[in-house]
Amino acid sequence: MSGEEYAIPSQPLPVSSRSPGKCIIFGEHAVVHGAPELAFAVDLHTQVLARSAPGFSLNADPHAAEEHPYFRTALARRWVGGTPLEVRSTSRIPQGAGLGSSASFCSALVAVLGAAQGGVDRPALAQASYDVEKAAQGVGSPGDTSTVAAGGYITINGAGGDHLWTIRGSERDWEVRRVADPGWVWVVAHSGIPRATGDAVRNVTQRLAQPDGPELLAEFARVATAGIRAVAGGDRVAVAELMARNQELLRTVGVSHPRLEALLEAAAPAAEGAKLTGAGAGGSIVVLPKPGQEVDLVRRLARAGGLPFVVRPSPVGTTLVGEPEL
Ligand code: PMV
Repeated sequence: MSGEEYAIPSQPLPVSSRSPGKCIIFGEHAVVHGAPELAFAVDLHTQVLARSAPGFSLNADPHAAEEHPYFRTALARRWVGGTPLEVRSTSRIPQGAGLGSSASFCSALVAVLGAAQGGVDRPALAQASYDVEKAAQGVGSPGDTSTVAAGGYITINGAGGDHLWTIRGSERDWEVRRVADPGWVWVVAHSGIPRATGDAVRNVTQRLAQPDGPELLAEFARVATAGIRAVAGGDRVAVAELMARNQELLRTVGVSHPRLEALLEAAAPAAEGAKLTGAGAGGSIVVLPKPGQEVDLVRRLARAGGLPFVVRPSPVGTTLVGEPEL
């Protein structure tokens, strides 16, 4: 394949890219242990620009190449030759909200580094973005990085849909597929409570090591499998029930939070379905609004102290800025 045929084509520096965020509908945490997950890329973006410079910097910070975990790891793994780069990054994705800000940054950064070194195809972009995020974070699945790299609705270890690629991990592989967008609008509300994904993942891993862990994991998998089928079939009633069941499971493994429960309660009158999204223990909830009640829902969530916003799926994953959308 020549550089021009890659999804991220060859381009000399300076190079700019953009990458969406993500929102998980079913299966967070359980996906780390091999269960299915459904997520979509959200229309909030990170934009990254890289150019040659006398020394390395990220947003004018000259220490980032040693200190910023994702930047340092991406340069070490994906920047052969190591000539100095000035990188700028701006994002509309709130940090620590469970909307994939780190995955979005990793994928956008790997894309500019790949473009400057001859181009990269999308499966390789997804694998490299996962490798960087995992190495910097220590734990986790490729759900976030593959969703932002691909765009649209994505399943990890799900059945049905079109197979996109396989992500290789040290302990297991993950199958990544695309499912049809049902055309729904979702509302996310950030609790304002920050949390660390790595800590939440490690706590759930410990919880799942208890005697009832395998049974819980099987139930997570059952709910996500049914949820993927319900979203693909446009069945909102089934999706709502399954979101409630998924939330119960997340509560059982200890990643809900009183602020998230308060937001879920506030949303209820205008919501068909709702649950936490992402690592939990803070972060955000995702709500499937009752049709026509989106504005009422946003008001209720804001009154309850959340930071609500309407999110739409981004059908396009990571791209270079200025190129035609692939
Ligand atoms: O909250 P986030 O965006 O870090 O979501 C992480 C999703 C988990 O399943 C909890 C971890 C993972 O790597 O899949």
